[in-house]
Amino acid sequence: MAEKTNMNNDIKKVLLSEEQLAERIAQMGEQISNDYEGKNVILVCILKGAVHFFSDLSRRITCHMEMDFMSISSYGNSSKTSGIVRISKDMDSSITDRHVLIVEDIMDSGLTLNHLTQLLRARQPASLKIACLLDKPERRECAISPDYVGFVIPNEFVVGYGLDCENYYRNIPYVGVMKEEVYQD
Ligand code: IMP
Ligand code: MG
Repeated sequence: MAEKTNMNNDIKKVLLSEEQLAERIAQMGEQISNDYEGKNVILVCILKGAVHFFSDLSRRITCHMEMDFMSISSYGNSSKTSGIVRISKDMDSSITDRHVLIVEDIMDSGLTLNHLTQLLRARQPASLKIACLLDKPERRECAISPDYVGFVIPNEFVVGYGLDCENYYRNIPYVGVMKEEVYQD
């Protein structure tokens, strides 16, 4: 990892600008508001990567909703997830018979969300859907896709707007492609 100076120096190119993110998230909020009108949905933020997306998306939803937060970690190393999920912070609410919308930063292999949705389905929600800001469908290793997608992106490692590399760069306000030399040393 390079020295922690100006994070923008570690970015090869801006993939999604702040304006592009705001515009698309407003559209997603409108669609979700229409789909969940009258249903009092629980929006579940998957920490930490979804933090900015959750905050911005929730403020574009006009129907009544509750917020909850979960933190999960998947066993495996940093570059390859095993897909076996451990819940390190569970949500506070019971979701039995409730409409649940999981809000996640990115779907890559899909293994993490595949396992998480299995765990949550056992709690018998009335419905369970996934909203992902980013989707890398080329990388999928199981039969799962998000119900709401912000942007389909190519198979490149991205950071910013919540997404991290070794827990840094989450505070960059846009989504950028990392310079390979930064994460390969
Ligand atoms: P999956 O189980 O392979 O779908 O992995 C999903 C998780 O991997 C996400 O929640 C992210 O934490 C992480 N991830 C996947 N691709 C990227 C990326 O390009 N940048 C940062 N994190 C990523
Ligand atoms: Mg992550």
